Amino acid sequence: MGHLRIPLLSLLVFLLNLSSFHFLSLADDYFINCGSHENVSLTSGQNFSGESKSAGYSFSKSKAVKDINQLPDISPLYKTARSFNKPFYYQFSITEDGTYLVRLHFSAFSSSSSSNNLSTAVFGVLDSKNFTLLNNFTAKNTTYSPVIKEFFLRIDITDSFRLYFTPQPSSFAFVNAIELFLSPVDFIPENYTSNLPLHTIYRLNVGGSPVNDTIGRKWETDDSHISDQNSAKKATPQSTLNLDRYGKIDGLVASNASVAPLLVYQTAREMTNVTSNITWLFSVSSKARHIVRAHFCDIVGQPGNIIFNLYANGNFRKEIGIISQYSAVPFFYDFVVNYSESELFNISIRPNNGASEQNAFLNGLEILEIVEGLAPIPNVKESKKNVVAPVVGSVLGGLSLICVLTVGFVFGFRHRKAEKHVETSVWSPMPANGGGSSHSSALNLDYLGLKISFNEIQSATNNFDTKLVIGKGGFGNVYRGTLLNGTKVAVKRAYKRDEHGSGSGQGLLEFKTEIIVLSKIRHRHLVSLIGYCNERSEMILVYEFMEKGTLRDHLYDSDVPRLSWNQRLEICTGAARGLHYLHTGAARGIIHRDVKSSNILLDENHVAKVADFGLSRSGALDETHVSTNVKGTFGYLDPEYMMSEQLTEKSDVYSFGVVLLEVLCGRPAIDPTLPREQMNLAEWGMLCKKKGLLEQIVDSSLKNQIDPSSLRTFGETAEKCLQDDASDRPTMADVLWDLEYALQLQKTTKLKEAHEDSTTIAASSAAFSLPIVQRFPSLGSTTNGDDTRDSDLDTTENKIFSQLKIGDAR
Ligand SMILES: *[C@@H]1O[C@H](CO)[C@@H](O)[C@H](O)[C@H]1NC(C)=O
Ligand SMILES: *[C@@H]1O[C@H](CO)[C@@H](O)[C@H](O)[C@H]1NC(C)=O
Ligand SMILES: *[C@@H]1O[C@H](CO)[C@@H](O)[C@H](O)[C@H]1NC(C)=O
Ligand SMILES: *[C@@H]1O[C@H](CO)[C@@H](O)[C@H](O)[C@H]1NC(C)=O
Ligand SMILES: *[C@@H]1O[C@H](CO)[C@@H](O)[C@H](O)[C@H]1NC(C)=O
Ligand SMILES: *[C@@H]1O[C@H](CO)[C@@H](O)[C@H](O)[C@H]1NC(C)=O
Ligand SMILES: *[C@@H]1O[C@H](CO)[C@@H](O)[C@H](O)[C@H]1NC(C)=O
Ligand SMILES: *[C@@H]1O[C@H](CO)[C@@H](O)[C@H](O)[C@H]1NC(C)=O
Ligand SMILES: *[C@@H]1O[C@H](CO)[C@@H](O)[C@H](O)[C@H]1NC(C)=O
Ligand SMILES: *[C@@H]1O[C@H](CO)[C@@H](O)[C@H](O)[C@H]1NC(C)=O
Ligand SMILES: *[C@@H]1O[C@H](CO)[C@@H](O)[C@H](O)[C@H]1NC(C)=O
Ligand SMILES: *[C@@H]1O[C@H](CO)[C@@H](O)[C@H](O)[C@H]1NC(C)=O
Repeated sequence: MGHLRIPLLSLLVFLLNLSSFHFLSLADDYFINCGSHENVSLTSGQNFSGESKSAGYSFSKSKAVKDINQLPDISPLYKTARSFNKPFYYQFSITEDGTYLVRLHFSAFSSSSSSNNLSTAVFGVLDSKNFTLLNNFTAKNTTYSPVIKEFFLRIDITDSFRLYFTPQPSSFAFVNAIELFLSPVDFIPENYTSNLPLHTIYRLNVGGSPVNDTIGRKWETDDSHISDQNSAKKATPQSTLNLDRYGKIDGLVASNASVAPLLVYQTAREMTNVTSNITWLFSVSSKARHIVRAHFCDIVGQPGNIIFNLYANGNFRKEIGIISQYSAVPFFYDFVVNYSESELFNISIRPNNGASEQNAFLNGLEILEIVEGLAPIPNVKESKKNVVAPVVGSVLGGLSLICVLTVGFVFGFRHRKAEKHVETSVWSPMPANGGGSSHSSALNLDYLGLKISFNEIQSATNNFDTKLVIGKGGFGNVYRGTLLNGTKVAVKRAYKRDEHGSGSGQGLLEFKTEIIVLSKIRHRHLVSLIGYCNERSEMILVYEFMEKGTLRDHLYDSDVPRLSWNQRLEICTGAARGLHYLHTGAARGIIHRDVKSSNILLDENHVAKVADFGLSRSGALDETHVSTNVKGTFGYLDPEYMMSEQLTEKSDVYSFGVVLLEVLCGRPAIDPTLPREQMNLAEWGMLCKKKGLLEQIVDSSLKNQIDPSSLRTFGETAEKCLQDDASDRPTMADVLWDLEYALQLQKTTKLKEAHEDSTTIAASSAAFSLPIVQRFPSLGSTTNGDDTRDSDLDTTENKIFSQLKIGDAR
């Protein structure tokens, strides 16, 4: 039963460690001129910096080497390198999860210091996850014509992402320059969910000229790949594109300048003879799978609908139907090509016989190899002299260590106690500090499958249109939005981390907690998490959209029509069910810690759902929790928890008691405008209840609606919840039970009234006078499938009393 708890706690410890690193480090852009102190700009636009001790990266023992033939026409970038005859690495601090573009530049020269000609080097390149980016690589024939190897890598937040350069025995490894930065593009073909590295093999501007784009990608011409020059002709370039479309149409994704330069879409190849096909040939590794991205844009100038088929290795892949409205709209289509026997790979297009306009075209093509090879990471000789500690890391390392020790102590202590109760789960403490690369994978939330791209969120919210803001808070704004698939969502976007000081560390912790907690639970009365986004230092959570907003808005301080007593009871019952599930359901042992009327949301049918799990803590039922500091919202805080800092489910019960009073009285938990004794609703409500004056503080909009027995039951429930001593408070199961009872009492009254109003009382009136023992309040057991708690029947006699049966008479 504690299986959720231990990993969550260890993750929390771990996150706290990371979060302090996270917010203050530098941007994750690395452009390194290896083996040199000189800054160099390339004609293609990138600016490389000389190696520096204060740029967030470091490298292990190795040598800086220089070209002895100082030829003037060569960029200085390619006249120096870092080289070694044993494995060495570059280590990077990564402050944001995401897909990174990594480029390695190699240009062989003869170096004086090593008396080696770099052309003879044979080596591999590995990343921190053992992936073989390059295997038995040699830079022969690259003298003064550099080769650039480009990869897309998934990297999660870490201060120790490494690229290893591993020479073959008796050889050596080298690298002239390294680029590493967050990629604005990703490749996510349908049904492909792997996070394997991708290696760019081909990138073509079909029918056009070479292009260097703004992120340093080189688009080559397709001339050398066309199998039959006569089958295709260049389409007339078109400079105006239609960029107003976004989203996905039948697998084709609307594109824009960040996916590929618009120049790529402005040129194309089209058919010369519509009865044949156009085929492009590529040589690839037969031992690898590939991701192919084909770019299309109808610039061929025919008026009707062009429909053609796309083939890979002669097999049908996809019908590309570009109807006339999509003329000049750029699209791309991603797919995976499985291992094949041949080293030759071909892509063809041919018109679809049924189409009104017989033509086919292609504007761009990218082919990426999926890297699956693994190799052992070598032992690297560390060198004090060369290892440059990341500047931020060194300042904060100490800080985060203190954090971890504190929390680690608290949680570690908790754990020792917990061991007695938890038999099956494995406690795997995180290293107290850094601990090297063991860091890197633990933070990955991707396995949850909830990630949504920033781009999609931008388009869902019309780029965070302020008109769509439906809520604001200390954390940031909540926007209304619609995902590409039509789902209505609420998008909670935290303020950018760097705009806030130290408090933001807590923000990340709460962000991750909410994702982890919500991804584990699904319940009718808990708001569902649809996804999250942590690209570009954003912290965005995407929830199901709750049409009617917060419960609070329906109680006071707004123009929303007031809820009826019946509705209020239904809502309280629903919220109690949600909390009961948190405490005891499938994910049992979760304490919400911030129960309040603004965290209870209503859907279009006024069904209540509990939201905002950022402060949640998880733990076994029979245990109390020592938390690092008291959290929650003033006015709802359990006084016992404030004193003892012992967190239990009963703290939620207390807060829920305050919500019950808010619902009854239609006023906030704290109202500073009122006289002192009335200011705090919990105190005021309890005082009135004791004096038997609760009716006098009932929300005036409920006048004459409430059945007195329903009010009495409800008031008693709130009173029980608000007991100072946590052990005197009921469980949520008990509360739920009492609320259901209050609801039934109310419905019975209404029914009676309805019948009294009608002229046909006689027939059924007898039924209402027959008391039948049907339900027992406060038994701690319900008949309702998903919330059932199957034990602990509290058979206190005085709690049992009878009630009227109402059956299904409505
Ligand atoms: C090189 O560029 C870095 C920033 O990228 C700058 O801090 C440094 O001063 C530059 N060095 C020289 C010698 O210009
Ligand atoms: C692209 O960049 C390379 C250098 O990396 C340069 O040689 C080439 O001329 C550039 N091409 C264009 C079209 O700018
Ligand atoms: C490179 O540096 C030059 C000036 O030295 C600047 O104009 C250019 O914008 C920089 N390029 C990038 C990509 O930062
Ligand atoms: C390095 O060696 C290769 C042959 O292995 C030779 O073709 C090349 O010219 C040499 N480069 C230099 C700079 O000496
Ligand atoms: C690299 O090449 C050498 C010999 O050329 C071979 O023995 C070795 O197995 C290769 N390594 C890998 C990882 O393929
Ligand atoms: C290098 O060039 C020579 C001749 O130009 C060629 O035979 C050899 O295959 C090339 N090697 C590589 C690795 O491209
Ligand atoms: C993706 O999977 C679905 C369901 O398995 C299948 O119908 C669809 O054809 C697949 N798409 C691709 C591109 O393989
Ligand atoms: C088109 O191709 C078909 C079959 O390949 C051929 O018979 C026909 O002559 C071609 N037409 C033109 C105009 O080239
Ligand atoms: C394309 O045409 C060639 C010959 O013109 C033919 O061999 C090949 O099968 C065709 N490919 C497709 C996918 O139609
Ligand atoms: C890809 O190829 C492998 C082995 O060749 C095979 O097991 C697998 O089913 C293939 N996958 C698809 C989607 O065709
Ligand atoms: C990854 O590298 C480590 C360290 O050398 C090694 O223990 C492990 O077996 C490697 N894993 C794989 C799959 O090669
Ligand atoms: C560009 O297109 C991609 C793919 O459709 C999309 O995810 C992204 O949001 C678009 N970017 C902009 C700035 O519109």
